[in-house]
Amino acid sequence: MIKEKEYKGRREKFAKKLQSDSVAIFCAAEQKVRSNDTEYPYRQDSNFYYLTGFKEDNSTLVFVKKNTTYKIYLFVEKKDPVKELWTGKRLGAEKAKELFDVDDVFEIEHFAPKLQEFLEEKNKLYYDFKVKNKLLDQVKLLAKNILYYKDAAKTVETMRLIKSTNEIKLIQKALEITKEAHHKAIQMSQKLSFEYELQAEIEYIFKKNGAYSDAYTSIVASGDNANTLHYIDNNMALNKGDLILIDAGCEYEYYSSDITRTIPVSGKFTKAQKELYQMVLDVEKKIISMMKPNILRSELQNEAEKMLCEGMVKLGILKGSVKKLLKDKVHKKYFPHGIGHYMGLDVHDQNPYKNQKNKEIPLKAGMILTIEPGIYLPEDDKKIPKKYRGIGIRIEDDILVTKEGYENLSKEILKEIKDIESYSSL
Ligand code: GLY
Ligand code: MN
Ligand code: MN
Repeated sequence: MIKEKEYKGRREKFAKKLQSDSVAIFCAAEQKVRSNDTEYPYRQDSNFYYLTGFKEDNSTLVFVKKNTTYKIYLFVEKKDPVKELWTGKRLGAEKAKELFDVDDVFEIEHFAPKLQEFLEEKNKLYYDFKVKNKLLDQVKLLAKNILYYKDAAKTVETMRLIKSTNEIKLIQKALEITKEAHHKAIQMSQKLSFEYELQAEIEYIFKKNGAYSDAYTSIVASGDNANTLHYIDNNMALNKGDLILIDAGCEYEYYSSDITRTIPVSGKFTKAQKELYQMVLDVEKKIISMMKPNILRSELQNEAEKMLCEGMVKLGILKGSVKKLLKDKVHKKYFPHGIGHYMGLDVHDQNPYKNQKNKEIPLKAGMILTIEPGIYLPEDDKKIPKKYRGIGIRIEDDILVTKEGYENLSKEILKEIKDIESYSSL
């Protein structure tokens, strides 16, 4: 659990970075309609959550800075017994004042008049440019003195780059659950008939262990379906000789995990599948071993592309000189995506990859990134040797960059061929 003291520290750090004579606003996520009068399960906005730990909608966090002094206010929904009968208890302003170490807490219906007051003699307004919210629309109508609109998200998202000890613990907890789910999948694949059955086994483990949900829609892609990168239909029959690419990770207390394993339906890899799998696994392990402070993500990308291209030439999937194939980006056809991404409150964590001078930000201790090389060989691509067609493989782990190098947070999730094969027969 992350305590109020840590959230307060984040708010103060953010407030200090604001320019003088400014107001900054973070809004809670809005409820989203699924259909008619049913809503999607509610999920708080990550930047708002990072600064408050508050899970209710219809609330805002406001920073008001005059010269170098600042005040921080929280607006929350009023307690309303009739509404609470239907949608659950609200914290209310009184209780929020006890729990949050802010300068004051107001009820959200006072947001517009209070804002008008805060905006007097201010010329800068910070808010998250990506967010659409009716509360923000009100603010923009009131903001007559404002000369500069600034993106509040960039500063918080830069803070989110480096994970605290408590954040790392939550990601580790998410990964413990995700490990159990992937291991269950290895044992169940032979016994089940459809992709969605395997998805159900995985997501049962997530829920059973108190994870709020999946961190993204699970991908359970058997055979040629694995060659659709974001395949989420998960409705096809499992065929005995195929592989299944499973990209699934739970979200625990708002923190993600993001793991891909590719396993045989039958529990045994064929010779051709082994050749491809081992190639991807060797690349994954090599790239992980390169991770350390100051290395660039583009260096990892380039090395992965080079190794995969060499591997494809060796197996007869690509023909010609590796140098020329790389130069012409021919290998991209079968490895079209990035080597990995930041992960945290969001599975693709909203942290910058470039600094203000548009230069790539090197890896730093405390960052968490996925490493996820893959190879995707469509069934209908006649240029590929027949034995490899219809196979898609990705292997993905979640890595913490440390002062000394790295720690693979998901190292216990099985991925060696022999380990997967023997675990599947247990
Ligand atoms: N699960 C999404 C990704 O691997 O980026
Ligand atoms: Mn990923
Ligand atoms: Mn993934």
